[in-house]
Amino acid sequence: MTGEELFRKLGGTPIQMALGLYTLEACEGMARDINEIQNLKREKNAVILGHYYIPREITLGVADFVGDSYGLSQDAAKTSADIIVFAAVRFMAETAKILNPQKTVLIPGTDPACSLADSVTPERVRELRTKHPDHTFVCYINTTAAVKAECDVCVTSSNVVDICAAIPNDKIVFVPDRLMGQNVVDLLRSRGINKEVVIYPDGACHVHERFDPGMVKLFLERIPGVQVLAHPECDPEVIKQSHFVGSTTQIIAHIQKYQESQTLLVLTECGLVSSLLVDFPQHKFVGACQMCQYMKSNSLAGILRVLRNPQPCDAVNLDVEVMARARKCIDAMFEYAGKGK
Ligand code: 13P
Ligand code: SF4
Repeated sequence: MTGEELFRKLGGTPIQMALGLYTLEACEGMARDINEIQNLKREKNAVILGHYYIPREITLGVADFVGDSYGLSQDAAKTSADIIVFAAVRFMAETAKILNPQKTVLIPGTDPACSLADSVTPERVRELRTKHPDHTFVCYINTTAAVKAECDVCVTSSNVVDICAAIPNDKIVFVPDRLMGQNVVDLLRSRGINKEVVIYPDGACHVHERFDPGMVKLFLERIPGVQVLAHPECDPEVIKQSHFVGSTTQIIAHIQKYQESQTLLVLTECGLVSSLLVDFPQHKFVGACQMCQYMKSNSLAGILRVLRNPQPCDAVNLDVEVMARARKCIDAMFEYAGKGK
């Protein structure tokens, strides 16, 4: 790839949706990194998985798979590569490792945490188990492997409502996202399903909880016909005003259904919105997105570093017994999701 080719693809990205301006000069430097990464991938039989929220020069330049957390876990389960470089956040890389215990999974991000995943510990889940022994424990995929190991079924933003509806138990404990938990209760009710859902009270995504219901109301009043598309990690008062609720991949699929030019307010991280601007030039995108500093800590330089000279701390290492128990929780999700097809 040449710098000019990259500049043609990235040059129009608005500054508020990227970490720096994509000038021709910057793109020339990035193109050199991209070409070296492509060579290293071939040499080492490595694949790069990237979430929609990471910087666009990675998803456009070097990623073999780009997707939401569910799609990426499916991609991770299928790959025959020896090395998986997971450009996203730690819990997603851990999921890839759980699904591929024999492979090397490398994390290129410099701050790959997720404030939501880090809001709950295995000890807190065990305490809840003692209080609610008859409940099915559902954990969002945004959790550590150690937390998944304590739960029964894992879910992602793309399947949480369907799986909670399908679980043959009317008593559920949901960890760790309190906003998503309330959204699940509301969305189940809208389908006529009433379950007792005990919601872990201390977790929320600091990126999605910033979307303000009052702002959404104002957009709806001021822009006739605007369609609001929101991620289920948003506040329930935001979700109630939205026309569509879904994961990042589901939001893209939903936008593909609009035949005519449409004004859209997309309430999720900036990485997805910057891709939408390029991929759907026929639509108008209004409002402001929010950035996740953890996803944005991924860079071409970080990927080059872990591919050239991986250090032990770059690789995901998990306890074998924790992995086996977490795997059961993830496999339960694949089973429920498969039944819904
Ligand atoms: P998706 O499941 O849509 O990929 O979301 C993951 C995430 O971390 C959202 O903040
Ligand atoms: Fe975690 Fe929120 Fe960032 Fe997603 S956007 S990785 S939930 S902090």
